[in-house]
Parts: sequence; C-alpha cells; structure tokens
Amino acid sequence: MLAFPLALVALAAAPLCAATFPHPHAPHPRSQKRSSSSNVIVALFEYSWDSVATECTEWLGPQGFGYAQISPPQESIQGKAWYTDYQPISYNLVSKRGNREQFESMVKTCAEAGVQIIVDAVLNHMASSGSGTGTGGSSYSEYDYPAVPFTSDDFHWPVCDIDWYNATSVYDCQLSNLQDLKSESTTVQVAQAAYLNDLLGLGVAGFRLDAAKSMRPENIQSIIDRLDSKPLLAQEVNSDSTQPVTPNMYSSIGGVLEFRAHYSLVSAFVKGNGIKSLLSWPDSSWVDSSSAVVFVANHDTERTDGTTLNWASSNNAYALASVFLLAQPYGQPTIHSGYNFTSFGTGAPLDSDDNALPVTCFSDNWRCEQRWDAISGMVKFHNAVGDSAVTNSLATSTNRSSFGRGSIGHVAINFESSSWDATLDTDVADGTYCEITSGCASKITVSGGSFTVTIPAYGSVAFYTGSTSATTTTSVSTGSTSTSSSSAASSTAGTVSVTFKETASTVQGENIFVVGSVSALGSWTAGVALTRPDNGQETAVWSGTIKLPASSTIEYKFVKVDYSTGDVESWESGSNRVIKTGSSGSQTVTATWQ
Ligand SMILES: *[C@@H]1O[C@H](CO)[C@@H](O)[C@H](O)[C@H]1NC(C)=O
Ligand SMILES: *[C@@H]1O[C@H](CO)[C@@H](O)[C@H](O)[C@H]1NC(C)=O
Ligand SMILES: *[C@@H]1O[C@H](CO)[C@@H](O)[C@H](O)[C@H]1NC(C)=O
Repeated sequence: MLAFPLALVALAAAPLCAATFPHPHAPHPRSQKRSSSSNVIVALFEYSWDSVATECTEWLGPQGFGYAQISPPQESIQGKAWYTDYQPISYNLVSKRGNREQFESMVKTCAEAGVQIIVDAVLNHMASSGSGTGTGGSSYSEYDYPAVPFTSDDFHWPVCDIDWYNATSVYDCQLSNLQDLKSESTTVQVAQAAYLNDLLGLGVAGFRLDAAKSMRPENIQSIIDRLDSKPLLAQEVNSDSTQPVTPNMYSSIGGVLEFRAHYSLVSAFVKGNGIKSLLSWPDSSWVDSSSAVVFVANHDTERTDGTTLNWASSNNAYALASVFLLAQPYGQPTIHSGYNFTSFGTGAPLDSDDNALPVTCFSDNWRCEQRWDAISGMVKFHNAVGDSAVTNSLATSTNRSSFGRGSIGHVAINFESSSWDATLDTDVADGTYCEITSGCASKITVSGGSFTVTIPAYGSVAFYTGSTSATTTTSVSTGSTSTSSSSAASSTAGTVSVTFKETASTVQGENIFVVGSVSALGSWTAGVALTRPDNGQETAVWSGTIKLPASSTIEYKFVKVDYSTGDVESWESGSNRVIKTGSSGSQTVTATWQ
C-alpha cells in the first residue's frame, strides 16, 4: 500500500460514466460563485501580463487550471537576465512584463476565464549592490531606494554571508549579496503589507513568498496579519534536515513549498532509486497535505546541475513525474512553465526596449508545459478525483507502479525501457475511457473490475470517469434534421489537433457538443462534449481538442444537449460550418453560437 493518509471518497461516481454525457461541472448550480474547482497552479515563468491573459482565456480556463502564478511584478533593476526580477527597487507595478494597467487587465481577464492569479512576492531583500534606474524609472543606490520609505536602518547590519547552519545568519545575512531588509521593522512591514494589499485589491488570490526561509516566521506572520484578506501562500522554504530553519516552522502561517517532495521525485526518476520508492510518499516528516505546495521543478531547480529533474531529463522523466504529481493526493500541485535556455541567466525574449515579447507556445524556446497532453490530461484527472482515497496501489517492479483514486480514476506508470503488458484491478466502473496522458490517443476498457493495457516504455496510462469526451464520441439521440450528409475526409494518413472554442449561453444541465461529418465528430449521429470553465457565467467559452483527419474538408455544427438524457435540445441555425484541416500540427476554431 502507498502510505497515503486515509481520505473519504468525496465525489460520487455517477452520473459521469461512459454511457451518459460527461459534464465535469454538472453538480454545480450555475449561480454559484467559482469555488475553485481546481487547486492546480501553473507558474507562467517570465510571461508578459498580456500573454498570461491570453493563456488564461485560450487554455488555462477551458482546461481546468485553477491558478496562474506570475513572475515578480514590482519595479526591479533593469537587465536582460530573468533574475533581475528578484531585485526590487520599489513596489510600483512596472516591470519588463507589463505596467499596472496591463496587470489589472490580466487579473480581470483571467478571473473571467475562471483562473486566479498568484504573485511571486519578493519581500526578503532589495537589489544587490550598484546604482541606477529601475524598470519604472525610480533611482536607487546602495541601501537607498527613494521610491520606498526605507532608510539604512531598515536593513540588517553588519553585512554578512549566509551560513545555512546558523539560523540568525539565515535570517540576518545576505542571500546572494542582496541587500537584506529588516523584516522586523514596522516601516518594512507596513510598506510590504501595503504592496500586498494593493495586489489583493486588484483581485490577486495569493503569493509565492520568495526566499521566505530567510525571513523569520513571526515577521511573515506580522505582514500577513496586516492584510485585508487571507491570501493563498506558497512560502519558499527549502529543506535540509541538517539545517536549523525548516518548512515546518512556517506551515502554521499558510502554504509552504515542500522541497522534500521534489527531492523524492528526483530520487525516484533521476537518481536511479526507481518509482517504487514513491510508495513511501508522502513522508511523515513533510508538512501536512493542507499546507504543502508540491512541484516537479521550478525556475531555480531546473537551472541547477544536471542531476536535477527538468524538461531535458532522459526517459520522459519530467512528464512521468508530472503524471505522478497530479495523480496523487498530497499537496497543491504547481506545474512550471518555462523556456529553454543556454545559460543560467538567459531571460525570456525581450524587444529592443527590454519589454517582454509575447509568448509563442512551442517556438522561440517556449515549452508551454501546461499544453502537454500528459499534463493537461492529468489536470483534468486531478480535478475529477478530488480527495478520493488511493486504492489498488501496486508496484510490480522498481520502476512500474499503478494506483487508483477511489472509483473515479486510475493511473499506471511504466518507467522501464520495455513495454508493460499489465492487467490491473480498478474500482472504476466498467466502461470505455479515453487514455488521457496521450490526449485520448487510445481507449481503455474496464471490464469486471480490471483492465488490460500495454503501457509503452517510459510511458503512462490514466483515465477517469469523465474521460469520455475529447476524442470519444458519445451517441446523441438527434431528433433533428439540420444535417447534410458528409462531404468529408479524403483522409490521408495522420491527424491534426483541432481546438474548438465556442462561445455560447447555456442553462444548468445543458452541454455544448460538436457534431460533424467525420467519425471523430460522430458522423452526424453522435457528438463530442466540449467543456466549460466553472466560472458561474451563463455565457462561457466551451472548448475541447479533437484529433481530426489531416488535409480534409469537414462539416460540423455545435448543438445543445441535455446532459442527463442525452437529447439534443437545439442545433445552431444557418448552414453547416466547414473546417479545412492542415496536413499536420494543430489549429483552433473560434466561434460563437448562432
Ligand atoms: C550566527 O550568525 C550570526 C550572524 O552572522 C553571528 O553573529 C553569530 O556569531 C553566529 N553564531 C555562531 C555560533 O556562529
Ligand atoms: C529505474 O529507473 C532508473 C532511471 O531510469 C534507473 O536508473 C534504475 O536502474 C531503474 N531501476 C531498475 C531496477 O530497473
Ligand atoms: C526544448 O529543448 C528540448 C530538448 O531538450 C527540445 O526537445 C524541445 O523541442 C525544446 N523546446 C522548444 C520550444 O524549443
């Protein structure tokens, strides 16, 4: 057995089974304010505010991510490296990634898409030595920042280097030569609380507290006590059992980044200890699940030496570790979304005035991990299973493991160089489900309480009771005639991923489906359910990504379906819509109900 704490199965399996219409948000009354149906955070490292807003609308909201964490938004020193962001000059919202107006607009746009913003807040220190002008035009020199009310008395003296084995030194000396603020000073606390209250007032949900380990817990508590509302927190407190300052000293304040969980993933996936070692996850020394913020990698760890776990780790380790992180119930998962770099300091692309260029997923080095099939599929799994207990856990070898989450979902990971022919017991009801770590490229049939699959080398499979949409077609009792017969598919080899985004108004109990002339769209007799952000709005962008035959002309329409009966309630008016698919890759259809 995995050593998970016992948890009650919170979600009923019905009615989300293969035979009925999947509607992940069905039980929520439409009028309900978003109650954070997902706790998953994606850290959009170095994204401009405009690009964060676009990603919220186009991907994060529709795909069910709960939070976007952004790079530090306060004025910093100038420069092209990413780490200039972590050298504050003032708490004005002017950075390489946008100004105050863009920031405000980002928070609003994301909220409309059902995604809340977490700000990376840098409170431990100001800049390192030097003088100049910040990204917002404020001047500064050593221990002198005219745009904030600090005097040299508000810094720790004398200057010293941190000795991690001496708590006083951890708190009062300089982290990487950064001028260390005296967090016990009332002036500092009041100015920093004003900054955080400003952000909360703009609608921000919480903070990653950078370098929290170098601030005394009681000083962080004093700043938090000055806030207008209680924020979600992710305090950066790295852990080494031989050092005096530990994450557990901070967990009563709020969330803490649990680095020990990260190290255990590194041990399993990179250092050769095998994924069976995760049977002891979570370790009893870690902070409580309710305080833990967990991650596979972050912007610091992905830049350290080659033994760490990052996107370039061999054997698909990064994606598989992410599958595990999102499948298991401990802590609040954070997915890091970064860019490929050649040296430690490489910043994200900037224009000639050093303002951030828009993010272009999968080019210009942008990796967009949140769009990887394995990760976005597992976010849906994570949201669906809620706090269901771990069931049927099994490790058949050092590097092969599987477990279920109540009667809602099941996952299996094969971290070996040969494929795994597995027959595994599951509590998920009999039926046919999409394999969601591959974007529903295959299906899994549960029969008599077990399923049989071949899991590729360094691959995974996962499914959950709602994973019948996307490429799965579900029969629609049509009763209407607005169809014409197919003109489709002079289909050659290959498919393209088409993301449909349909803006439509629905009432409680209605789903939007897309129905069309090819079998992937149900050949006019079935349909594919789209999903909507759970933002309580009647009008929403319903979306879904479906693999369609490449190089084809395909007709389709959107329909409103009663999810409990499966009956089509209405077809769109007008003639059929038409899409011409490309020869490969992906494309997006944006439409409005007509
Ligand atoms: C711990 O660090 C503080 C601050 O640098 C220093 O004053 C103190 O002497 C150190 N204590 C020990 C035991 O080294
Ligand atoms: C498990 O996988 C790791 C990483 O690929 C490898 O180093 C280790 O030898 C594997 N263990 C076994 C027993 O196969
Ligand atoms: C990032 O690097 C990896 C190899 O380490 C490569 O496979 C991937 O395509 C790169 N991504 C981008 C967007 O350049």
